[in-house]
Amino acid sequence: MKTAVFVSGRGSNLQAILDYRQGKKSIEVEAVVSDKLNCPAFEIAKRNSIQAFSVGSKDGYISYEQLASSLSELDIDLIVLAGFLKLIPVDFIRRFENRIINIHPALLPSFGGKGMYGINVHNAVFKSSAKVSGATVHLVDPDYDHGKIIAQQCVDISDVKSPEEIAERVLDIEHKILPYIVGKFADGKVKIVEDRVVILD
Ligand code: GAR
Repeated sequence: MKTAVFVSGRGSNLQAILDYRQGKKSIEVEAVVSDKLNCPAFEIAKRNSIQAFSVGSKDGYISYEQLASSLSELDIDLIVLAGFLKLIPVDFIRRFENRIINIHPALLPSFGGKGMYGINVHNAVFKSSAKVSGATVHLVDPDYDHGKIIAQQCVDISDVKSPEEIAERVLDIEHKILPYIVGKFADGKVKIVEDRVVILD
């Protein structure tokens, strides 16, 4: 299965997918896409000889239309948003309907939406005094952090002293749950049955 991974920054989830791929040859990462011209995740792409694309409307970027054509030419089966922080245009989402997934560092539908990314999410969770947090992998629809939930895993945060501590515990989960679900897509085990996402054994 051919994937394109969309990133905006560090790329630790991209790295987790690449590490998982070592033992699962059915996952191929064919493209890394960013809303930036440069970001640490692009270094990971370079080290792994993966094509990189910058998408946006400014000079030096390609448009979403051009990106859609390039990804179709590459025969991309699945798009993985792994820390991609821009809202994707509706036309692009429709073109790849049910083939775009996102990882979010909280238990959706709580603590999602515009502005809810990275440490902002963990700050909000910390302030709420929630005793559990976690990671969510979901199908992407035109809204921020919205779409049917594919998988979630939670972690006890009742004893944390800072949002950074929550981030650390959640990131650990992200690095397991996201590659696992990408692997399930590669095995054809993620299905929509009676309007619900199910993962087959
Ligand atoms: C991850 O924690 C991911 O869940 C989050 O951005 C971080 C990217 O880290 N995504 C969102 O907040 C989306 N709303 P990474 O670049 O090291 O993978």
